[in-house]
This record gives sequence, C-alpha cells and structure tokens, in this order.
Amino acid sequence: MAFNRITAQEAAEIISNGMTIGLSGFTAPGTPKAVTEALAAKAEAEHLAGRPFKVNLFTGASTSDHVDGALARCNAINMRAPYQNVPDLRKRINCHDVHYFDRHLSEMAQEVRYGFYGPIDIAIIEAADITPDGEIILGTGVGSIPTYAHLAKKIIVEVNKKLPHSLRGMHDVIMLQDPPRRPAIDIYKPSDRIGSPVLKVDPAKVIGIVETDSYDGVKEFSAPDEVSKQIGSNVVRFLISEYKSGRLPKEFLPMQSGVGNVANAVLYDLGESTELPAFQMYTEVVQDAVLELMKKGKCTFASTCSMTFSDKTEAELFANLDFFHDKILMRPAELSNNPEVIRRIGVIAMNTALEADIFGGINSTHVLGTKMMNGIGGSGDFTRNAYISIFSCPSVTKGGLISNIVPMVAHADHSEHSVDIIVTDQGIADLRHKDPVERAHEIINNCAHPMYRELLLDYLKMGKGGQTPHSLKAAFAFHNAFNDTGDMRNTDFSKYL
Ligand code: COA
Repeated sequence: MAFNRITAQEAAEIISNGMTIGLSGFTAPGTPKAVTEALAAKAEAEHLAGRPFKVNLFTGASTSDHVDGALARCNAINMRAPYQNVPDLRKRINCHDVHYFDRHLSEMAQEVRYGFYGPIDIAIIEAADITPDGEIILGTGVGSIPTYAHLAKKIIVEVNKKLPHSLRGMHDVIMLQDPPRRPAIDIYKPSDRIGSPVLKVDPAKVIGIVETDSYDGVKEFSAPDEVSKQIGSNVVRFLISEYKSGRLPKEFLPMQSGVGNVANAVLYDLGESTELPAFQMYTEVVQDAVLELMKKGKCTFASTCSMTFSDKTEAELFANLDFFHDKILMRPAELSNNPEVIRRIGVIAMNTALEADIFGGINSTHVLGTKMMNGIGGSGDFTRNAYISIFSCPSVTKGGLISNIVPMVAHADHSEHSVDIIVTDQGIADLRHKDPVERAHEIINNCAHPMYRELLLDYLKMGKGGQTPHSLKAAFAFHNAFNDTGDMRNTDFSKYL
C-alpha cells in the first residue's frame, strides 16, 4: 500500500480538541518532532480565535522541547502521562493547567490496554522506515508505542531521514499479553530477544507520512563536578567491596543506571575500575558513557528502551553502527522495565534522589514536598525489584542551604523497604539488615554533610519511642526552616517541643 505524503500541518489538522495522542519514543530519542510543533501552532491559532484546544498526551517517558515544550507553552495539554522533564511543562503542572499522572513506566502500556485511560485516537510514530505492508523500523527510542499503535484509531508516521535503515535489528518489539493469559517472559540475560525487529501496524490505519530530518537535540554532558565525581567513586568503591566479599556473583550482574550527570559520572568511573569485570546493562536509558564503555570492552551489552545519546555521540554511533549493532537492544518500556525480568536476572539498580531521610525513605519527585520535578520514571520499577538498590544524591544542594538528608522525606516515592544503599559525596550508608535507629546513625554519619549532622542527631533524640522514632511535630522542621528563612541550617527544634 502506498502511503500519502503529508505535511506536518496537514497531519495536525486531523487532530481535534479533546483527542488522546500516543507518541513513540522514550526521552527525546524516538519521539516525533514535527507534527507536535505543528499542533502547537494550530492550538495557538484556535486559542486566538477563542476556541478551546487541548489534547491528552501519552508518551513513553520524557520527550523534548518539540513536544512538551511547544505544547505546554501554548497551554494545549489537558492530561499528560507518565513522565516529563521540560521546564515549561513542569510550570503548567505545578499550577494545575495540566493534569499530570505520574506513573511507573513499566505499567503505562498495560494500563492503557486495561482501559484505565480511555481510548487512543492517534498514534504518532517516529520511524527510520516503513514498508507498504506496515512494517516500521523504529528510531532510537521505543517507549510504549506498540500498545499505542495497536489501540489507536489512526496512525501518523514521521519518517526521519537522519535515521539509518541499518537500525533494523536493534529493536525487540512486543506487546505483552494481558492477564490472565500472560505467559512467562523468556528473558534470562539482557541479550535474549522475544519480539520482532520491527513494529507491525495495520497499514489501513496509517493516514499519512510526514518526512523530517531533525536531530533529537540531546546536549553533551558537562564535565562532572567534584561532587558528582565523589559520588561516582563512592558507588564504585561500594560495588568493588561487594564483589570482593562474594556478595555479587563472579560474572557480575546487569546494571541499571538512572538519568543525568551523576549517573553518567558513575558509569565513567565504572569504566576506569580495574577491579570489576566487564558487565552488561538491563536499563531504560543508555547515555553517552555507555558508548565509551562499549568501545573499551567494559560494557558488553545493553538492553534499553532508548539510546539517549547526545547528538555528537549519536553521530559516532551511526558512523560505527556495525560495531554497536549487536551490543544494544531497544525494547518497549513494559519489557525494559519489567519487574519479572529485573528480579529474575538480578539487576543492580542505581538511581538518583532529590532527598533521603534518616530512616531510608526516598523522595525522587517533589521539590520540598509539593512541586513536581520530573516524575518517578523507572526508578520504582527497578528499585523495588533489584538485587541491590542504590540511591545517590549530593549531601547538600544550593551551596548548603538545603540538606538532601532530612529527618523525614517531604514526599515518599521509595520506602526504606526497597532501598539498600544510599551514597552521597560524603560516603556510603549500607542499610541492609539494620533496624531504623541503626540505619539513621549509618546515614547521618556516612552520608549527611558535616554541617547538618548535629541537627539530624538532635532530631533523632527527639523521637518519642516506637521502632522508628520520628517526632511527628518536628519531622518537617528542616523544610519549614527553608521555607521560612531560605536556609535549613536555621532549623530550631525548640519550636516543636
Ligand atoms: N530540595 C530542593 N531542591 C533540590 C533538592 C532538594 N532536596 N535536590 C535537588 N534540588 C534541585 C537542584 O538544586 C536543582 O535545581 P536547579 O535546576 O535550580 O539547579 C534541581 O533540583 C535538580 O537537581 P540535580 O542535582 O541537578 O538533579 P539531577 O539532574 O541529578 O536529577 C532527579 C535528580 C531526582 C530530579 C532525577 O534523577 C529524577 O527525575 N529522578 C526520578 C526519575 C528516575 O529516577 N529516573 C531514572 C529511572 S531509570
């Protein structure tokens, strides 16, 4: 079947107020770029004409300015799930212009299939190529598109000419069956494949092809600062000691690594270590460091949902695709983040926290307890099911005005039941087999910044008994001090006696 070539504007015309759109991709890679920008222009024109125009937007994870930025700036998003990280959208979410549903990434696709989110009207897919019978070579990120494409009434395909057709073979595309008919997932090591190299869609649903040639626009990482380097070296020190003690198997275990500068710095440090063997990854994103590790033979394989490489690293990947082709496999989020697989293959999970509390609770999402930052992403999928779950963060933020170790997290994303290790620039807290008071001493002594240790110990003494001796009156004294004076060091517990 020959598909219609249409412009992004013509594609946007098909989308009307109130529709629900599902996008391919995971982070910027694999995410459509042109139609959403044209849609933003259409929304702006509709608003100028006094007509309402908003859509519901479901993605794999975060997107890019072409999607969340463009649509948020013109207030064209009604409901958004399951993850975001664009400042303009964050502002809309925090002032209730957008209904944001922050969801574990592994669960999004299945819950859309279960009918929890209503129907999908349009799926927009970034592709390297599409055959007349509807076989799509996806781009550099998958997300939840197998489900969105299956359920959508209509499909628009953005064929991005910068994506090589030789990406074919780097995807493992599948839509899981739903309970009670879901069989076991036959993945026993990161390189096992269970799906198809292409996404198969019903050609009759494809209403047009939009040609694009833009880059993802992922920026290169800045050189890690001293704090990130210290965190990285502490994580590696912990892994070496686990390995030498025999608590990790001789052949090592697959690693998952979160997003951002610290995560990238940890991976670079792993590459420098001569005491750890080469390893594989079972993760949701691979960043620039992974390509370097692969060139050195330190990382031998990565299962991921997306290749979130900077434009420069992506150019290097495409120029050397023969070398990397059999070392990276991109899968849908319901597989890359699947709890069954993560638990079975024993993933070592490494994620980043905004703040941790002295008993081991983690806040990954809400700044000072109320403002949404990004979302839980895949951190819950991996943390809860990992062989060992590590959280890292700097000991202080904003030059020391904020302690990232607090008496009680102001928003709880991961409980102490799922967190094994906390690492800051100050050191490592091993929470395993420790009761709450032992954990508190471990975290305060090893991870809190020295300028906050006395205050945290004072808080611990205020506890009025019970296994976890919180003082409910003073639990948010650090946050209150920051809100009142702009500095957590001004915490005055006498106010709470
Ligand atoms: N209280 C208030 N603000 C804080 C804070 C705290 N405890 N900790 C950090 N911040 C601020 C920083 O100062 C910075 O502010 P700025 O943008 O004004 O400079 C901002 O929050 C981001 O902090 P940074 O240290 O740069 O964070 P990061 O890029 O390492 O990201 C998370 C940290 C937690 C936001 C990020 O990892 C995330 O979204 N995690 C959840 C999803 C996830 O884990 N995904 C991966 C799973 S595979």
